[in-house]
Amino acid sequence: CGIVGYIGNRESQDILIEGLKKLEYRGYDSAGIAVFTQEGLEVRKSIGRLANLEGKLEGDPLHGSVGIGHTRWATHGKPSDANSHPHTDNSHKFSVVHNGIIENYLELKEELIAKGRHFVSETDTEVISHLIAEEYDGDIVQAVQRAVKHMRGAYALGVLTEYEPDRLVAVRFASPLVIGVGKGENFIGSDIPAILEYTRDVYILNDGEMAVLTTNAVELMTIEGEVISKEIFHVDWDLVTAEKAGFDHFMLKEIYEQPKAYRDTMMGRVSEDGRSVVLKEIGMTAEQIRGIRKVHIVACGTAFHAGLVGKTVIEGLARIPVETDVASEYRYRSPIITPDTLVIVVSQSGETADTLAALREAKRNGARVLAITNVVGSSVAREADDVIITQAGPEIAVASTKAYTSQLIAFNLFGLYLAQVLGTRDEAFVAEVLEAMHKLPEQVEAIIEQAPVLKQVADSISTHNNLFFIGRGVDFAVAQEGSLKLKEISYIHSEAYAAGELKHGTLALIEDGIPVIAVITQKDLYEKTLSNIKEVKARGAHVLGVVNAGMEEEVGKSVDELFVIPKTLQLLSPTLSVIPLQLISYYASLARGNDVDKPRNLAKSVTVE
Ligand code: G6P
Repeated sequence: CGIVGYIGNRESQDILIEGLKKLEYRGYDSAGIAVFTQEGLEVRKSIGRLANLEGKLEGDPLHGSVGIGHTRWATHGKPSDANSHPHTDNSHKFSVVHNGIIENYLELKEELIAKGRHFVSETDTEVISHLIAEEYDGDIVQAVQRAVKHMRGAYALGVLTEYEPDRLVAVRFASPLVIGVGKGENFIGSDIPAILEYTRDVYILNDGEMAVLTTNAVELMTIEGEVISKEIFHVDWDLVTAEKAGFDHFMLKEIYEQPKAYRDTMMGRVSEDGRSVVLKEIGMTAEQIRGIRKVHIVACGTAFHAGLVGKTVIEGLARIPVETDVASEYRYRSPIITPDTLVIVVSQSGETADTLAALREAKRNGARVLAITNVVGSSVAREADDVIITQAGPEIAVASTKAYTSQLIAFNLFGLYLAQVLGTRDEAFVAEVLEAMHKLPEQVEAIIEQAPVLKQVADSISTHNNLFFIGRGVDFAVAQEGSLKLKEISYIHSEAYAAGELKHGTLALIEDGIPVIAVITQKDLYEKTLSNIKEVKARGAHVLGVVNAGMEEEVGKSVDELFVIPKTLQLLSPTLSVIPLQLISYYASLARGNDVDKPRNLAKSVTVE
């Protein structure tokens, strides 16, 4: 989502719309603004493109010099006028724009309904406007401070109240927010591009910090009310660099966003005591779950590779047989789909034509369909019976990174959920996995810090025309994703092989100096993979081993280079081992001078067959 806010002496409507236009590149499903006019706080919003909102405003403009605006990327509730921001309370005296996810919004909603408040949208954000209205007793800053104490999750907020038209309040917790400082006017933005045209002097808020803006001043404080001071950050980026938040490419930005994507995808899906998975979005009853005899996972491209990991996760945790298929095959091979089959379709965009056709084929045959997708309200999300939304946020680079890893998180949550319902795993086990999952974001950060080492690996790989990825079990699944990523953006030919299968043909291709990347994270299989490494080394291959911490000594003896990922459960290792492979692909593409974000011949979303 995107947020923009203005307080000053100009017509705020124009500034808000211009700001929102600068956030268009990220994609969105609806937009809206709220402005103080002579009639009070007025809101206009519209589903679809910004032009729709502009159309509405053309005939009926909002005049006033204080306002907030928002473009929405749905996280809860489908795209619609009602679900668009800004949201107001029942008195229409308070207006809120929000980025992020309120984890406990359903509980809060019930409490607020019990107090007599009525809701007009399905969003988590509407809860915030009611909460602030409930807490208000004459000071908007204190009301916001009290309201956020009830909220768990991630939020960046812009808040206005008709009672205090000379103040704009902004708060940040785990969702980005910047304050733009002007002369006789001040701004808020979820991203720098939204305000770059008006000012280059910004305060970057940290978690738990807030700002109170008036026309002539910006007051900074914590959500506890303690006044703070901050250095102004002077932005010298051009617009294009600002869109990428200072990164050279969207792909790199999205690789770095993975810790947040992991946290957001888990948010609201783990019980407060951390011992069980809560998937309120799954409508299947326990009896229906017990009736599942087999699972089909169907997807394309990178999403299919997430499905390969998903197979291991579901079979391992729930002991239900799982088949995986690429959607373009599945739809035409008359698969044996029975009413006791659960078909899981995986799609970042939710619009891939083959995946959608596979979903329809499954439904025609009476199967229940679960979608794992990143886009609320997408075709796949609308047509499936149950939907788990990966909360990766918009993904722009054609090569998928954070969407893939969020799909892995979703599979782990769903696998644990099945295990809970079926009783195939006990509570202690689920709690142990969840604890390990909570550590993943920091572990991803630790891997990303090693980027310079991976750049060196990539630089040497970029001079080759062929290479191999090998692994066993889930490591083979990750190897396939690593190979696809490299092909997509570096145009270097590579193949991923099940390590044990190499000797049945492909070994003939191993010659002096050829790079081989071996993924080895599974303790019970690593000796087997080590012997395959010896086979390729004997024929002159140069081997990089990507290993789980604790295995480096053993594996180190047999490979030329080692990359160690932080220690995690075997089950979860793909969520970490793929990160170095993403970075290697990125840097190899860069070294070859390719267009990293828009590789030749490829599209982000393939909506034709
Ligand atoms: C395209 C993209 C791939 C993606 C695949 C599936 O081919 O280039 O990166 O994995 O579609 O897309 P989906 O949106 O269904 O996950």
